[in-house]
Amino acid sequence: MKRFAKFTIDGKTVELPIIEGTCGPDVVDIRNLYQETGLFSFDPGFTSTASCFSNITYIDGDKGVLLYRGYPIEDLVEKCDFLEVAFLLMYGELPNFSQKESFEQSISHHTLVHEQLRSFYQGFRRDAHPMAIMVGVVGALSAFYHDSLDIYDPAQREVASHRLIAKMPTIAAMAFNYSRGRPLPYPQNGLTYAQNFLKMMFAIPSETYQINPVIAKAMDIIFILHADHEQNASTSTVRLAGSSQANPFACIASGIAALWGPAHGGANEAVINMLKQIGTKANISEFIERAKNKNDSFRLMGFGHRVYKNYDPRARIMRKACHDVFKHLKIDDPLLEIALELEEFAIKDPYFIEKKLYPNVDFYSGIIFRALGIPPSMFTVIFSVARTIGWVAQWNEMIADPGQKIGRPRQLYSGNVKRKIEDNRTS
Ligand code: ACO
Repeated sequence: MKRFAKFTIDGKTVELPIIEGTCGPDVVDIRNLYQETGLFSFDPGFTSTASCFSNITYIDGDKGVLLYRGYPIEDLVEKCDFLEVAFLLMYGELPNFSQKESFEQSISHHTLVHEQLRSFYQGFRRDAHPMAIMVGVVGALSAFYHDSLDIYDPAQREVASHRLIAKMPTIAAMAFNYSRGRPLPYPQNGLTYAQNFLKMMFAIPSETYQINPVIAKAMDIIFILHADHEQNASTSTVRLAGSSQANPFACIASGIAALWGPAHGGANEAVINMLKQIGTKANISEFIERAKNKNDSFRLMGFGHRVYKNYDPRARIMRKACHDVFKHLKIDDPLLEIALELEEFAIKDPYFIEKKLYPNVDFYSGIIFRALGIPPSMFTVIFSVARTIGWVAQWNEMIADPGQKIGRPRQLYSGNVKRKIEDNRTS
């Protein structure tokens, strides 16, 4: 039965349809609100606004549940590799054997970047932040792959999507090696997605590089955990850019820019800086007090989430992966000790309990990256490599939606009313 919410203003009542999804809160359809009442809704930060229909990812933030196309993240990490998950996100189902084979073949076929694109790197300062390089180089892909820019041709959309998934590890590893003054790497297609990335990151031509299976597994898990997270800031940025019919490479570059900020993908870098700042376990309580103090801008980085008001399920998996890597590599990192104790303190503290602030995925990812020899400036880059499949899947879903419109929020204007330029304004 159709349900409606009633909205009454100045004696006039309008009926606003309720739309039901398969899980999660229903929504009030306010598309006719302005037409019927002359009012807009006001929702800065979109805390109560669903911006689209989506079949890709479901999060129950109160229960700490994350599903990709209906499958729990824990099961996907246990039973699938990253490219299977990428196929799932993009096409809606897990691949059968031949689909898996042909998807892997297509992705590995597209891992190389145009040779001329490689010379772009010389134009960047060696100390450029690799995210700056990512934004520039990924945006520049649209200047190279003209045959996959027609967004209304499903075959071109698919090629552009495969190119993006395939080239991101290459572009990221090139940015890393450029900053080190090392030769820019080439991909090796016989390897898995995670193995190939690790090899491009760390192998040097003068030595044989042995891929460590525990590290490759951890990297694969990191890629899966970061693959999609429904309508977060960067994904919404990709959708908004794409809604104007911009090409996919430009849209993904805009997503990378949005991901860069410390309130989003930059948080894992901020976690490491915070742990270093804390310095010793003895200082933990002082920093917790600072995080609780309204007059202090300090926040516990890696804690809190717009959607999760429970333990982020990705943080739990990451915590375990972190222990596995540390045990295997026999690493004794004081920052991990501080992180574990900080978590224990914070989750018992009434402030964090009341505000439902739990560790998020970024709390542990930086510590693993550190153990793998990946510098903080690369943390968000790796996140962007993993999230590309999510951006691409969400972008494809939006373009294929016949009801898709250009995204154009409204505003509550609070500036000057119409006024005149004074004749004596220069005196
Ligand atoms: N430390 C201390 N207090 C916090 C923290 C924190 N990490 N996070 C939120 N709070 C407090 C806020 O001060 C606020 O208090 P108030 O109600 O007294 O004003 C309350 O909790 C709610 O916080 P908001 O900022 O309003 O929540 P919002 O949903 O807008 O923000 C966010 C979520 C940005 C993630 C926030 O928790 C934060 O800044 N965390 C630290 C940064 C971080 O780890 N980001 C990574 C997110 S995960 C990701 O992007 C992959």
